Amino acid sequence: MISSENTPRRWLRRAGEARLEFGADYNPEQWPREVWDDDVRAMREAGVTIVSLAIFSWARIEPRDGVFDFAWLDDAMDLLHANGISVDLATATASPPPWLTTSSPSILPVNAEGNTVWPGARQHWRPTSPIFREHALRLVRALATRYAGHPALVAWHVNNELGCHNVYDYSDDAAVAFRAWLQDRYGDIKKLNDAWGTAFWSQQYSDFAEILPPRLAASHPNPTQQLDFKRFSSDALKEHLRAEKAILRELTPEVPVTTNFMVMGMKPMNYADWASEVDFVSNDHYVVLPNPQARDELSFSANLTGMIAGGRPWFLMEHSTSAVNWQPVNVPKRPGDMARDSLTHVAYGADAVCFFQWRQSKAGAEKYHSAMLPHAGTESAVFRSVAELGRRLRELAAVAGSGRTVAEVGIVFDWESWWASEQDSHPTERVRYRQEALDWYSALLENGIRADVVPTGGDLEAYKVLIAPMLHVVPASLASRLTRYVGNGGHIVTTYFSGIVDENDHVWLGGYPGALRDLLGIRIEEFAPLLDGDSVDLDNGVTGEIWTDRIDVVAPEVEVIARYKTGEQASRAAITRRVVGEGSAAYVSTRLGAGGLAAVVPSLLGPAGVVSELPVELRGRVELAIRGRHRFYINRTDEPVELPGGEILEPRGVHVES
Ligand code: GAL
Repeated sequence: MISSENTPRRWLRRAGEARLEFGADYNPEQWPREVWDDDVRAMREAGVTIVSLAIFSWARIEPRDGVFDFAWLDDAMDLLHANGISVDLATATASPPPWLTTSSPSILPVNAEGNTVWPGARQHWRPTSPIFREHALRLVRALATRYAGHPALVAWHVNNELGCHNVYDYSDDAAVAFRAWLQDRYGDIKKLNDAWGTAFWSQQYSDFAEILPPRLAASHPNPTQQLDFKRFSSDALKEHLRAEKAILRELTPEVPVTTNFMVMGMKPMNYADWASEVDFVSNDHYVVLPNPQARDELSFSANLTGMIAGGRPWFLMEHSTSAVNWQPVNVPKRPGDMARDSLTHVAYGADAVCFFQWRQSKAGAEKYHSAMLPHAGTESAVFRSVAELGRRLRELAAVAGSGRTVAEVGIVFDWESWWASEQDSHPTERVRYRQEALDWYSALLENGIRADVVPTGGDLEAYKVLIAPMLHVVPASLASRLTRYVGNGGHIVTTYFSGIVDENDHVWLGGYPGALRDLLGIRIEEFAPLLDGDSVDLDNGVTGEIWTDRIDVVAPEVEVIARYKTGEQASRAAITRRVVGEGSAAYVSTRLGAGGLAAVVPSLLGPAGVVSELPVELRGRVELAIRGRHRFYINRTDEPVELPGGEILEPRGVHVES
């Protein structure tokens, strides 16, 4: 995890004042020079403090192989500095220019079917291409050399959303790099054969050279090969980040390095594992509609980002002022949505609120994406609400630098379980890891209970209650850790399809839920997923879908909290809890959804002594997040809510008590 020296606060100290940063991606190369003066004037009016510059500027900076044109960028950097605006300077490597893809088409990614991913959009590069790497690093070196001493430069922004479009590449370069990665992981081919279970379907390898990425195959590719390819692909991009960072460190050791994550938005990058590679964490978040849990999802994303950052402040690098352009239907935000979204990120530790982008483009694929300065200009509701948000953030300057206040409940988020639980050839294709975790989060919000969403590698022991939804991959070490946690008085709640496989995706034998069977005191002989449209009633009034289990209670200290009332498992246990000394281990065997979970959460948390920190009448209506002495009350409803101090929290409003 990141060291406390390397947080966004470090810049603020340099700037001599604590403040929440406010800004956007700025793409001046899309506009004539005279527009830039209007830009900086309007930026000052809105209270912009920082912009991310040059994100997609490779073709402009290096118009021909090895020929650099910095004049325009010098001008932009100087102009921003003269207007008191800091620059988070991109390394500009996200979108390789046409001269490079023409001279070296071998840098283009290849999909699982063997098709080339052609240039024409962006991020058309293989993470493992030596030719791409060489050109990208030459550009990084040129930029870092040029701007090392520039007073506007406060941070480096490596590439952009690494892996957004190019994470899974099945090219020959990827095959070579995958083999090297496997050699490193397993050492010898026998170990790989054991881990991959290659005795099945005659897949035994005699040499690493025979191995390929899981390209289009006649049927389901080897599951462990698929899982290792996911691990490798995340690592390959992390390796690119490290390569760029090494040059930046060498040339500008004082300037912090970040790259914008897409926590929750993108499954393939294991960001919990990437966090220690950046000096401070930054994240992008977009609301996807329609989704009744859209704002809970935003909160979940902000929450997890903060925990990946070790509870320390982080940067919201991108979100939208209003509509995006990449969903089937792109509706604008309602009044109040933008400020509420921004302040929810701040509530969970963001020390910066930034947008894609500053000025709405008039050409290109993103011309219908909202911006701080819309097509309509400064005379617009969007710009007025942007300026209003800028004022609000200035008032909240004292929040900057404060870390998260640890909650009593932790929801465990595990990338390996996300990857492995949703692979093919499973009991059902319907399980959704992220949705199950989000449902638990919504259920806690409905009960007014504050929780941290914490990666498996985080400080799990800090929590009174750990909720581990669909913790599918449980290596022996994690099983012992959780058993110790419960033995020490911790309370764990887990669900269907948890504890099933080890790190090689091999089933734990002897009955499910394998690695957690003894801890839970139950045994399941056979999975019993439900067909689409089928559901089962439980005797506590909630309904399950997608999955059921035929549970045998095997330990005498197991209490049955709810039983199935209908379906094949009728009268058998559906929710159980084993009491272990001061601790307990509970199991929920079906998908209850956010509403059903909200109904059962009190019976699961009660024994641990966890109660809401909110007055009864606010629970479910208001979300509470705490950063040190700052308490954020977020209205979850479209109605005004009266707070304990008598303040009226407007619909979608956020009140901060310090
Ligand atoms: C992000 C990306 C931005 C912009 C934005 C639009 O994924 O980093 O460059 O494309 O989405 O929502």
